[in-house]
Amino acid sequence: MPSESFESEESLLVHKTPTCGCCKMWIKHLEGNGFTTSIEDHSNLQEIKEKYDIKPEFRSCHTGVSKDGYIFEGHIPSKYITKFLSEEHPNAIGLSVPGMPLGSPGMEVEGMFTPYDVLILFKDGTSKVYAEVRK
Ligand code: CU
Ligand code: CU
Repeated sequence: MPSESFESEESLLVHKTPTCGCCKMWIKHLEGNGFTTSIEDHSNLQEIKEKYDIKPEFRSCHTGVSKDGYIFEGHIPSKYITKFLSEEHPNAIGLSVPGMPLGSPGMEVEGMFTPYDVLILFKDGTSKVYAEVRK
């Protein structure tokens, strides 16, 4: 498929907790970049993380799930989700930005920034750096 077709109309179901503000900000970031989202609130995300096999060290405050069942965990910049979804990744379960790095989308605090990596998570439980975000 040509890459242009991924610029709009990607949709994610986002699992989050009802009171967390940074998840809402991340959803805004996605929608500002052409994604459509639907939201499912949970009082506890433990079951979701287990269902999608997201190991504790890769977890963050929300889990996005694409139509194809790939997971996008945490404050991932939308462009990497678009890129990932345009590629073939038969052995991957999705992408993750573990924790909540300052300056990632939805985690903007007065211009503060911590360098972070976007990880690709594989079905066998391993991960690799998918992208380095340095500014
Ligand atoms: Cu967060
Ligand atoms: Cu949040």
